[in-house]
Amino acid sequence: EDVGLLPTPPMGFNNWARFECDLNETLFTKTAESMVSRGLLAAGYNRLNLDDCWMQTSRSDNGSLQWNTTLFPHGIPWLANYAHQHGFHLGIYEDAGNATCGGYPGSYRHEEQDAETFASWGIDYLKLDGCNVFAEEGRLLRDEYRVRYHQWHEIFSRMSPPLIFSESAPAYFSTDATDWARVMDWIPFYGELARHSDDVLVYSGAGSAWDSIMVNYDYQVQVARYQQPGYYNDPDFLIPDHPGLTDDEKKSHFALWASFGAPLIISAYIPDLPDTVIDFLTNKDLITVDQDPLAQQATLVSRDDRFDVLTRSLSNGDRLLTVLNRGNNTANTSISLARLGLDSKCQYSARDLWTGTKSTITDSVQVNLDSHATSVLRITPPRHCKTTPTGTVFNTASG
Ligand code: GLA
Ligand code: GLA
Repeated sequence: EDVGLLPTPPMGFNNWARFECDLNETLFTKTAESMVSRGLLAAGYNRLNLDDCWMQTSRSDNGSLQWNTTLFPHGIPWLANYAHQHGFHLGIYEDAGNATCGGYPGSYRHEEQDAETFASWGIDYLKLDGCNVFAEEGRLLRDEYRVRYHQWHEIFSRMSPPLIFSESAPAYFSTDATDWARVMDWIPFYGELARHSDDVLVYSGAGSAWDSIMVNYDYQVQVARYQQPGYYNDPDFLIPDHPGLTDDEKKSHFALWASFGAPLIISAYIPDLPDTVIDFLTNKDLITVDQDPLAQQATLVSRDDRFDVLTRSLSNGDRLLTVLNRGNNTANTSISLARLGLDSKCQYSARDLWTGTKSTITDSVQVNLDSHATSVLRITPPRHCKTTPTGTVFNTASG
């Protein structure tokens, strides 16, 4: 099987949710230093991604994009080199329309030139947003997005090496189920990951950060069938220093994204994160789950008025069991092996990926969880018991 450019989901840092347009060279070099010294790079977080507002308000005389020289005094190629020297990749942000969401020059009708510019700067990852895209030639808007993202796909197909392509198109159609599904149908064939829904609440935003996480979680659950090795659904950034989140909510966010095999892109001020947060972000067992080469996304097996229960097969034949308490109170629940499609006559061994505690499961699993907390168990079948794998139904033959 060809797993393409990105065999496992990307991990790293992006400025947007934490700093929005308040980015600069020092933020990136300080973040990189901290990611090295605090063990994030060693844990797999090896991407530094610039988001919107890195550029000047106009193109140069020959049409190239130009970085903001006040924010990036040494230049983007220097920053790419800095990243590479320290063991990171550098990613960048552009938009398929006339202008980025922040109002900077979009790539429309400059696609080839911009791709070459990014590659020449040492960049290997592009997040292509979808603000300010307007239908041309009487097309439906969703077809206009397809044409533009396809064009970028073609440009990258001709490049060696191509850039990793993070597509934001589906996020512009998530309020219309028909458009959304039609867009998702081509997304996995053009790029390596895609934002399918809203932005998680930015640090400065008003509203509930947890609710914004749950909105994206609910969208993510709906697109599980599209994920496969080489293509990942992106429910947006981890925001582990968001002031609106409790410690349990921060840990749940990470555990759920890892259960999904989602991109783990941290948008926080990493040098100031408490050790407790670094500890859970570098949880080896959960990162191993996130990076499992089968790349299955955990799917819902049940939902009641409190608990979401999700499961997924892992490449060594183990099963993941993830339980989220969405309710407002501490509560317990019992999940039968039968509900997970496991054989009730077998004794399974389980490991709690938060505590490392091992246990034996016969018949059912008991879980006690505080409000908005998540439990993750890695369940291993005994040798003589065959475990039914969870399936993916995505047809990889087309496209
Ligand atoms: C959109 C994207 C965000 C961020 C901003 C930048 O809102 O969804 O992730 O890139 O644009 O302006
Ligand atoms: C894009 C377009 C240009 C111009 C600028 C304005 O780059 O391709 O023609 O409209 O946006 O920001």
